[in-house]
Amino acid sequence: MSENQSIKPITTEERNNLTIGGCDLAELAKIYGTPLYVIDEATLRGICKSYKTAFKDYKNIKMMYACKALCTSAIIRILDEEGFGFDTVSAGEIYTVYKSGVDMKKVLFNGNNKSKKEIELALEYGVGRFSVDNFYEACLLNEIASEKNKTAEILLRITPGIECHTHNYIKTGQTDSKFGFDLTQIDEIISLIKSEYKNLHLKGLHAHIGSQIFETQCYYDEVEILIKEISRIKKQHGIELKEMNIGGGLGVRYTTTDNPPSVSILAEAVTEAMHKYALEIPTIYIEPGRSIISPSGVTLYKAGSSKIVPGGKKYVAVDGGMADNPRPSMYQAKYTAQVVNKLNHSQTETVTLAGRFCESGDILIENIELPPLEAGDIICVFNTGAYNYSMASNYNRVEKPAMVLVNNSHSDIIIYRETLDDLISKDCIPDRLKKND
Ligand code: LLP
Repeated sequence: MSENQSIKPITTEERNNLTIGGCDLAELAKIYGTPLYVIDEATLRGICKSYKTAFKDYKNIKMMYACKALCTSAIIRILDEEGFGFDTVSAGEIYTVYKSGVDMKKVLFNGNNKSKKEIELALEYGVGRFSVDNFYEACLLNEIASEKNKTAEILLRITPGIECHTHNYIKTGQTDSKFGFDLTQIDEIISLIKSEYKNLHLKGLHAHIGSQIFETQCYYDEVEILIKEISRIKKQHGIELKEMNIGGGLGVRYTTTDNPPSVSILAEAVTEAMHKYALEIPTIYIEPGRSIISPSGVTLYKAGSSKIVPGGKKYVAVDGGMADNPRPSMYQAKYTAQVVNKLNHSQTETVTLAGRFCESGDILIENIELPPLEAGDIICVFNTGAYNYSMASNYNRVEKPAMVLVNNSHSDIIIYRETLDDLISKDCIPDRLKKND
């Protein structure tokens, strides 16, 4: 089993209270307050090792972490130590990675509408690869690179005509996607690069077929399409592309009904397709986000008010919700939770965990069986490492939670809790509105 197949961090233990990384979660809630994001270093390093082991026989593999899942300086440091590169999509992510001391050659800059300012920054910091998404960007990147007397090493982002969702996937000739060149546009962009865009150096192709993927067949098909395209490009344009980025997307187990494949099964599908179709084995980039960071993260909440509505349904409100985890309200995402301080309660009741934000749709978990909750109980929601903090907002002007890293019975803060002053720190009052005391 690899870590992405586990709902809980691998160090989770039931002692007096629930513990992760040897740290009592009720204690952590007391020390750092709630809501609190907790990241288990052992699970994170474990999944990094699973990826490295799974692909160890494939010599030309480059592991990139998709920063969009969770981008903080300490997390970047761990991934850097584990030998990962970084897939970034904004100046903010590039800046975080740069400030964390990463060799910028290991960084790829992705995105469908990179701004001039972002491209300038990326060139200045020397990011290793640009994934060029469209005609406009190719022209802009070439222009900025030539102004700076630099050459940008690029991959072309293509839409391979595969759409892969959790439980099924489709292959379509034509893909309706805002990302990338479709297969019919590749010849035109390559001709432009050859004839006009002298400051772009084309190294390979890039695709990403979806997220929270449970089927490895779609990776197999993706690799086949990319390889066939690479050999067609060689024949037609005389350009040898030696790199191929297959994106991210491996799923995780939010609830017992989710059954994602292990990293080694994914690696088998990729390498099998590679050996079947490729005459010369290219360098593969793989850029997972969710499967790397999600299982190592949990969020702690404190139970507060509760109510029973006519018909008997019981709501218990927690002190966070859609601002720290927008996934249930955005995608109807399901989560698993446990009460940290009531491990030995045999009795359970069905409750709906509601968030504290002013929207009826702010429900964290619908109809979950938990021991009867009282105000002050600490609830641990599992698998919140990815796309929780990274998509968090200050809705209702609520401070974003802190994040701690746990390991070997020790906890370190890696993001401070926002303060009320942080919330107004960017506010300005025009002179004419200022109150004269
Ligand atoms: N590479 C590219 C080009 C991507 O667009 C993405 C994710 C990844 C890699 C990483 O995919 P992962 O391994 O994390 O599935 N907010 C959504 C997920 C959006 C994913 C966007 N792209 C969620 O919370 O489910």
